[in-house]
Amino acid sequence: MFEHIDAYPGDPILTLNEDFAKDPREDKVNLSIGIYFDDEGRLPVMRAVREAEAQMLAEPAAKPYLPMSGLAAYRDAVQSLVFGEASAARAEGRIATVQTLGGSGALKIGADFIKRYFPGSHVWVSDPTWDNHRFIFERAGLTVGTYPYYDDETGGLRFDAMLAAIRDLPAKSVVLLHACCHNPTGVDLNDAQWAELIGVMKARDLLPFIDMAYQGFGAGLDADAFAIRELVRQNVPGFVANSFSKNFSLYGERCGALSVICESAETAARVLGQLTGAVRSNYSNPPTHGAKIVARVLTTPALREAWQDELASMCKRIERMRVAIHARLRGNVPDAMLARYLEQRGMFTYTGLSAEQVDALRERHGVYLIRSGRMCVAALNGRNVETAAEAIGDVLSRAFA
Ligand code: LMR
Repeated sequence: MFEHIDAYPGDPILTLNEDFAKDPREDKVNLSIGIYFDDEGRLPVMRAVREAEAQMLAEPAAKPYLPMSGLAAYRDAVQSLVFGEASAARAEGRIATVQTLGGSGALKIGADFIKRYFPGSHVWVSDPTWDNHRFIFERAGLTVGTYPYYDDETGGLRFDAMLAAIRDLPAKSVVLLHACCHNPTGVDLNDAQWAELIGVMKARDLLPFIDMAYQGFGAGLDADAFAIRELVRQNVPGFVANSFSKNFSLYGERCGALSVICESAETAARVLGQLTGAVRSNYSNPPTHGAKIVARVLTTPALREAWQDELASMCKRIERMRVAIHARLRGNVPDAMLARYLEQRGMFTYTGLSAEQVDALRERHGVYLIRSGRMCVAALNGRNVETAAEAIGDVLSRAFA
């Protein structure tokens, strides 16, 4: 019966992370998966999360199913954080939000909705993008293409080429964009570029789908949501996926949401109904625990302040690690490849190392990056930065020898 099933080739990120766990070398370094580790190399439980969980444990509660659309307090808190407390679209009831299984769940619910209501639309992703973007949309039956984004030569953005390609897309094409801390490159649009791009999408009747998995790791919680607020300001309908995996360090709780900006409250109610239907037919309804934590933290002033402070200190630590690896690589890495360690934003730097060089780093030194050359700088710490830098220097010296 199952003879025709081919072997799963594995996931470029998650399978590598599993391989890392099996690697017996003691001095191995995992810079592959997008996870923030503290300076001791531990996955943090944030203070506000610990406190919220303690409060929740002290109030034992039954565990009924959540509504299909998710926990109401969570959905409201998501809208406030993503769109801004004073968002006009929010006040007008024009945003339909459902709780999802992380950011990936939001993409999947959005993909199913697009397949059903925009069956002729293709999805366009940046070149490069997070690998799972393509997997999710293709599995939902959609065709995925790419638009120019990253400039290999400069380590920056090909904004003009990106804009020209997007301007040429057929009406109702779906354009997937990263709100901030682009994964995998760490290269973002500035505010003026966002405003121009959104103007083009509006004029061309395109459907933006903004993925915000790293809110708070770029220029700040509000600044990182600029593109989303600009969509609302320019009155452009679109999709927003967001996740609390990274900024709450709640990876395994699968806390995300999908919001759809609609033209009227009446449309938003129908859209919300269909998103709810998509949740029901995928996994019925979402889990409770993480959503309760996030809602409690975001709506309790003292917890929210503690969360924001700790998130800000995580960002500062990443900045320090960028400086540390940059200093250690100086002289061992060609200048053209060095500046990006400081210039790129968020958890990642696109090192410019080839897949073969990444393989050599892993095989010879036990230093894991993903094969596109993406490095998770948020996993560097005072102890492993030297090992990582020496290993990169060694691999490059062989390449250029
Ligand atoms: C990553 O990009 O490494 C993370 O978002 C984890 C994942 O699910 O791929």
